[in-house]
Amino acid sequence: MSLQDEFDAVRNEGLAAIAEAADLDALEHVRIAYMGRNGRLKDLGQAFKEAASEEKRTLGKALNETNNTIKDAFNARKEELSTQVDTESIDITEPRVPVRRGSIHPISQVAQEVEAVFTSMGFDIVDGPHIESEEFNFTRLNIPADHPARDAQDTFWLSNGSLLRTHTSSVQSRTYPSLADTIGEAPIRKVVVGKVFRYEEVDSTHDNTFSQVEGFMVDKNITVAHLVGTLKTMISAVLKRDDVEVRLRPSFFPFVEPGFEVDVRAPGAEGRFKNWVELLGCGMIHPEVLRKGGIDPDIYQGFAFGLGLERLTMIRHNINDIRLFNGADLRGLQQFGA
Ligand code: DAH
Repeated sequence: MSLQDEFDAVRNEGLAAIAEAADLDALEHVRIAYMGRNGRLKDLGQAFKEAASEEKRTLGKALNETNNTIKDAFNARKEELSTQVDTESIDITEPRVPVRRGSIHPISQVAQEVEAVFTSMGFDIVDGPHIESEEFNFTRLNIPADHPARDAQDTFWLSNGSLLRTHTSSVQSRTYPSLADTIGEAPIRKVVVGKVFRYEEVDSTHDNTFSQVEGFMVDKNITVAHLVGTLKTMISAVLKRDDVEVRLRPSFFPFVEPGFEVDVRAPGAEGRFKNWVELLGCGMIHPEVLRKGGIDPDIYQGFAFGLGLERLTMIRHNINDIRLFNGADLRGLQQFGA
């Protein structure tokens, strides 16, 4: 290859490398490779020195041109890349792409708190299906087909005879058989938080889809005192108060005997909890429910309770319409963002 050809080759490769440099770092590498102390232009200079003297006139001109062409292209590219960085990083007036931040649903927030309190008291969190059998939702909870208590919990039936569970008590009856083997080894303490469904006219205090917490404990020598202590601990934690009082009124639920309705108040509270608020149902698990679950009621007793999370959340946040929770208007829900 003649020296002139070499000049041309280096010039063409150099120009291509400069054009391809995508940022200032890459360009600096090209600079070192071509214009650096041991760069390719230096090599050309060396070759020129060794050329025959009669060729030097033309070759000298060509060498200068090659040097200048590369240098100019380098400077131009450097200018281009620098202003590109400038406009990218300095245009503080450009509007930001808005960040749409999600938030945890207020019911989920309370659910998480309830689960945390029960976990701290040694309860396991259990779960069950929304589509439930008549057996677990009603029959094993001591609500036979002809019992008027079924009318109080009208539900959605599926064409295959299953139903949408009307309460999380169904998780009690479906959990018992799996406990029959190990019962007596340790107290059974379970809590379930989940959605339940009722065939219900929707208004500001009723929805067809809502959330319940069901808790139950089974062991030897369980009494109402254990029940009251557990409820008080849970409610104090969720309301974040230490002046919580509970009051039990006799009531009827087919799956407990005796059964109670529980009122709660916190005398030092502002707002609704200053006075008694009816919050949940509970009682000592009916012997028939234990027996149907394979647990001997002559040896073991237990308590159970069920409460609606929407009601608790509405009181806590002063929400006056239950439709907020399942509604599509996010403005309401976003106020409780966490
Ligand atoms: N399952 C009842 C309901 O949905 C709530 C309930 C009441 C649960 C008393 C219980 C209980 O475990 O003991 O209305």
